[in-house]
Amino acid sequence: MPGRELFGAEERKEINDVIETGILFRYNHDALRNNHWKAKDFEAEVKKITGAKYAHAMSSGSTAIATALAASGIGTGDEVIVPPFTFMATIEAVLFIGALPVFAEIDETLCLSAEGIRKACTPKTKAVCLVHMCGGMAEMDSIMSVIKEKNLILVEDAGQAFASSYKGTFTGLFGTAGSYSFDFFKIATAGEGGVLVTNSEDVYKKADVYSDHGHDHIGAVRGMENHPYLGFNYRISELHAGIGVAQTRKVPYIRQKNQEHKKFLTDLLSRTPGISFAKIADPSGDSATFLNILLPDTEAAKRTVAEFKAAGVAGFDYWFLNMYHFINQWDHIKELKTVSKLPIEILGAPQDYKNLHLPKTQEVVGRLISFGVRCTWTKEEMETLAKQISECVIKATKPVNV
Ligand SMILES: Cc1ncc(COP(=O)(O)O)c(C=O)c1O
Repeated sequence: MPGRELFGAEERKEINDVIETGILFRYNHDALRNNHWKAKDFEAEVKKITGAKYAHAMSSGSTAIATALAASGIGTGDEVIVPPFTFMATIEAVLFIGALPVFAEIDETLCLSAEGIRKACTPKTKAVCLVHMCGGMAEMDSIMSVIKEKNLILVEDAGQAFASSYKGTFTGLFGTAGSYSFDFFKIATAGEGGVLVTNSEDVYKKADVYSDHGHDHIGAVRGMENHPYLGFNYRISELHAGIGVAQTRKVPYIRQKNQEHKKFLTDLLSRTPGISFAKIADPSGDSATFLNILLPDTEAAKRTVAEFKAAGVAGFDYWFLNMYHFINQWDHIKELKTVSKLPIEILGAPQDYKNLHLPKTQEVVGRLISFGVRCTWTKEEMETLAKQISECVIKATKPVNV
């Protein structure tokens, strides 16, 4: 799945360019940098793939989603609908900009559903932070209808879905702003890094300023720049951006291989009774970083996981029990355990986080087991894996008294 499967001479070249000049900072130092602008190049590569009008590289996917929310005008006291199945950075970003997360139901796309969003709306709802999970994408037609009907701001956390699209539009570009993660585990990695995308010049300019202490980046003397807004340091270094450039150039190849490998495995596994798959809203736009298997129910999924462990099958996630990705394990969020007071502790949470009723989400995540798809798999490796998965599922789902 991750771009790091393909590290090579291309990444080394980009890093060497930066080391040779010694300019690790993305702004200024024009005379010394031998015309190397890795953060700008990284942004250009992301724009090339997604068709975004603007891209802004930052230190992480977490800082990129926080900036996307802030630059979209979401702040203290605003209610933001979020999914209970996501990497918890999404929820942290909402909380740290002072906003109030409202959890809504996902569906078999593994993303918030239009119905879930509609049911979670209150008169105070300002925005939806939609997360495109596990390399795929949400059902955007129905979601955009609710967004328009309820007059909401849409921000997309496409941290796991760089290079996935829905009916020709890339994730991250349906709403006001979107973000991708380029951490170590993604389809392309910068080591650490994130990119915000938007088609709005206004949002882009705010993001640019917000993510660098309010600097307006006009003129060649950093110390003399104006500060239209308050900001903070969410900058990416040239070293990280350089790796991001080389990796992003490989993404069309990786996505192509991922899609082939996912199809190969899906075809083999669909012959096994008990296995079905998460819904892919637009299969042609799938970045295919995960093969998402659905078992008949949570108990069958748990038994399958036990069979995988007994058989030495690796490379999968059972998110239902995962500490980072599923609300059932987020006690620190539910109990608002903070090192210093956040706005939500003064304003009050909009939901009782300890007693949420999200049966559809519990059912879907309980049944879900995801395998990371590798772009370097051989046919033999995939055949072996499919055979192992099948055998484990058959054992785990066979009737007890037979
Ligand atoms: C959906 C989602 N959002 C945000 C992030 C945070 O990205 P980063 O690790 O680059 O901060 C991740 C990382 O896994 C993610 O999966």
